[in-house]
Amino acid sequence: MTAKIEIVGPQRINGTVHISGAKNAALPLLAASLLSDDSLTLKNVSPLVDVKTMLNLLEELGAVPHITSDSLDFQTISLKTDSIDNFTAPYEIVKKMRASILILGPLLSRFGMCMVSLPGGCSIGVRPIDLHLKGMQALGANVDLRDGYVHASAPHGLKGAEIDFPIVTVTGTENVMMAAVLASGTTVLKNAAREPEIVDLANCLNKMGADISGHGTSTIVINGVNSLHHTEHSVIPDRIEAGTYAIAAGITNGCVNLIGGDFRSLLPSFVEKMEQVGLIFTDIDNGLRVESSGHIAPVDIQTESYPGFPTDLQAQTMALLCLADGESNIQENIWENRFMHVAELSRMGANIEIHNAHAKIIGVNGLKGAPVMATDLRASSSLVLSALAANGKTVIDRVYHLDRGYSCVKEKLAGCGVVIDRIQ
Ligand code: EPZ
Repeated sequence: MTAKIEIVGPQRINGTVHISGAKNAALPLLAASLLSDDSLTLKNVSPLVDVKTMLNLLEELGAVPHITSDSLDFQTISLKTDSIDNFTAPYEIVKKMRASILILGPLLSRFGMCMVSLPGGCSIGVRPIDLHLKGMQALGANVDLRDGYVHASAPHGLKGAEIDFPIVTVTGTENVMMAAVLASGTTVLKNAAREPEIVDLANCLNKMGADISGHGTSTIVINGVNSLHHTEHSVIPDRIEAGTYAIAAGITNGCVNLIGGDFRSLLPSFVEKMEQVGLIFTDIDNGLRVESSGHIAPVDIQTESYPGFPTDLQAQTMALLCLADGESNIQENIWENRFMHVAELSRMGANIEIHNAHAKIIGVNGLKGAPVMATDLRASSSLVLSALAANGKTVIDRVYHLDRGYSCVKEKLAGCGVVIDRIQ
């Protein structure tokens, strides 16, 4: 029996949510601990399932984590990696989380070898890693695909190179950047990803003694150094979690204070679009207040890499636009199959037409509670949002997807007057 969430709507969110540390910053930062035989201390780490999976992988390699829980939702993790004695990321772990590929760059850079299981596809698409591998080869690594594994080696170390990514890849940029920090010479990454999580990783690596510049722009320059050392670093807040709760305010005609960071600059295109939808944003101390104007206007959205509209908020936004007073359009440009939530939203009465990577959402007057099934991480959060607005009971199955990227959802919503029940 898989875990379920039961929600009886409609409910209105009204309160404050402390946003946790970003999943997509914590994962590469944890992998970066492999780059130094000194310890790395990360603060503001959210106790997410994906974080636990990455910690399991690091322990499999011989790393020793020490976790102190500062509260239910904020952890400090210190990782010692002076006794790494295994260089293989097994299929059992990699199939659970594709971001496992992020150990490739650090292991290659520090130890000159790594074996990573090919991750296989996942629900939102094929999710290839060819650009990661081409980047490592450009730095001088030998890369073989054998028996379902990537066998990578660099017996004479890695050598800086100029790498021009044909498409923007977030973890590809992170992986190659980490490989380059201990390479000999200078590496230039062109058409690099510009996400805040890349900047956070580069800032932490520089505190460890790396020499990186240009992070946050499309051209990142890494001058190789001989070794890295201990540092302490606090993970940036999770902009996707923040955006998800912002939409909760819009879809329930409520109000939420998002505390923990400068979310307006972390989500520039999202805030701009949501203002067009009718959400009202007010800067507050260490955060952003989001209020519904009582009206949901239709908009057209194209998902793009940062600073464009984030694909990781596409499903949640679609839930909101199901209740807009008109027709909206969403073009999903990043992932080839990120509309699994559409069938589930339609079960609740949404009116959505799909043509390849284009969704036409015709707003309806209301949604109706129904039994639905989560299919992937962000789809699961879009179902929670639609259930809050729907009339009647919704039971969401397979909510283990939600736990991969959102922590303490029940508690955070309860703090805003919203009741959801988890049924194991
Ligand atoms: C990161 O995935 C995020 N995950 C994803 O968030 C996010 O959706 C994605 O970036 C886009 O913003 C983490 O950071 C852990 P990409 P990533 O490489 O790096 C193609 C979530 O919900 N591509 O930027 O795997 C790829 O097919 C997750 O938190 C190649 O062709 O995404 C896609 O079309 C879901 N070859 C595009 O690039 C490659 O070698 C962008 O993918 C790599 C990518």
